[in-house]
Amino acid sequence: MSDETEPAAQAAPGRGGGLTRRALLVGVGAAGGAGAMFAAMGALGLAPESQEKDFTPPQPSDFSLSGKAAAKVVVLGASIAGLTCAYELGKAGYDCTVLEASGRVGGRTITLRTGDRLDELGGEPQTAAFEEGTYFNAGAGRIAPWMVTMDYCRELGVPIETFVNNNASAYVYNENMTAPVRARTARADLYGYVAELLAKASNAGALNRRLTADDRERLAEFLRRFGDLGSDLTYRGSERRGFETYPGVDRGVPLGATPSLRDVLAAGTGRAVTMDFGYDQAMPMFQPVGGMDTIAGALADAVGRDRIRTGTPVTGIRNLPDGVEVTHRGGTVRADYCIATLPPHLLARLPHNLGTPVTAALRTPVPVSAGKIGLEYGRRWWEIDDRIYGGVTETDLDITHIWYPSHGYHSRGGLLVGYYNVGPNADLYGALSHSDRRKRALTQGKKIHGEKYRSELRSSVSIAWRRTPYIEGGWVGWPSHEGAFALLQRPAGRVYFAGDWLTQLIAWQAGAMESARRTVTELHRRVLSATS
Ligand code: ALA
Repeated sequence: MSDETEPAAQAAPGRGGGLTRRALLVGVGAAGGAGAMFAAMGALGLAPESQEKDFTPPQPSDFSLSGKAAAKVVVLGASIAGLTCAYELGKAGYDCTVLEASGRVGGRTITLRTGDRLDELGGEPQTAAFEEGTYFNAGAGRIAPWMVTMDYCRELGVPIETFVNNNASAYVYNENMTAPVRARTARADLYGYVAELLAKASNAGALNRRLTADDRERLAEFLRRFGDLGSDLTYRGSERRGFETYPGVDRGVPLGATPSLRDVLAAGTGRAVTMDFGYDQAMPMFQPVGGMDTIAGALADAVGRDRIRTGTPVTGIRNLPDGVEVTHRGGTVRADYCIATLPPHLLARLPHNLGTPVTAALRTPVPVSAGKIGLEYGRRWWEIDDRIYGGVTETDLDITHIWYPSHGYHSRGGLLVGYYNVGPNADLYGALSHSDRRKRALTQGKKIHGEKYRSELRSSVSIAWRRTPYIEGGWVGWPSHEGAFALLQRPAGRVYFAGDWLTQLIAWQAGAMESARRTVTELHRRVLSATS
């Protein structure tokens, strides 16, 4: 809690000193959980306006202070948001039922293993025919260390390993290049020339209005390091570019001539060498051992599999004066509250009595297309021939990225992600048959890796998220964070919404979890303060 650092907040009952209302609340919160704190806040006439970042799960003891009882909650979607809601509410004894339309839990966290079937709207189903032990994370694939997803991995005992998001040995390839270059080479050249230009501009006095003589000296010192410049501030290439044959007993064979500045700019490798600069993409990143769906599986186990009904598409949601009624293909569920975690564009299509502003709000976010193909090979040629261990090759081809596996190093076979594209490129692949997607992905990847990319393929599975039943999108984009976005943060009667789509972490499991925590907190607060 942010105010724990304030001296008043650190005072504790029995230690004397100024026990303020805030200190009392912090003390209650620490000892009795969020519910106890909210109950005490109610007693003190304080209503919190905003959600604290820190989260205290509802606890059974919250009810002893409030005199209330845990409610019955129907959760729509065994998504990461839905499972997290049911898990957190379950800690305090809420009676949760989770209705899931598809046959699996986890929403867009889909991990395919051999024998798994993948359905597609208007397309043929696929069945993965991988080697035992091979898996394909067709949806969520990486976790940044600051994300709450890591806390759930720790809490649920899901083992994690490093996900290599940036690999200097991976390639950069743009269509206007004659051959792919290693990421380290592209980076060395770009940094080198940028550093040279800036250092020379500064030396020539072009920055004198901004920089003192001391500043210029410090800048020059940094730029020499940044670009590996000569003492005359010129970039002439660098060992950072890598070698044709790496040094050993001998000095190694350097790569060919360093391209000119003009050629480096024309190659357009800037996007590729900055791909992991964002706070959500920087190394180290992580993945669960054995497949991303391990997290959803652990959540489902903790919720209780008997509380989760898969193959149960929802057909309607009704607010009643004293509860909610959810109809599904197999019948009706009545509960005190509902948490709907379906994608907004699917919720908008469901019959409900939540009002037209809610329908309009649910229709506001725009689904984004995304696609991936898993390409399985019997030989890990990317390790053996290319010395690539994990990481991503970036390209302006329509495949956009090739991901190399960050696990199973040196085992016999393995699976690459042969494209991970978004928007028009995803639509392009999504419109093709599975075999045409594979053909196209192989034709493109061959430009980077050569004939083995095609000839050594064992099997493949592709996903087009816009065509995935009960999901119909990779994620959504909002035109703004006001209006509809703000409206859906609040419950519509007894129906709450949760999902990554209601956060600033769209397309991350962490967004779904953060949203779930917020919804659980608000629902619990309401249950504890309800007058009837
Ligand atoms: N979370 C998505 C990714 O990692 C957007 O690419």
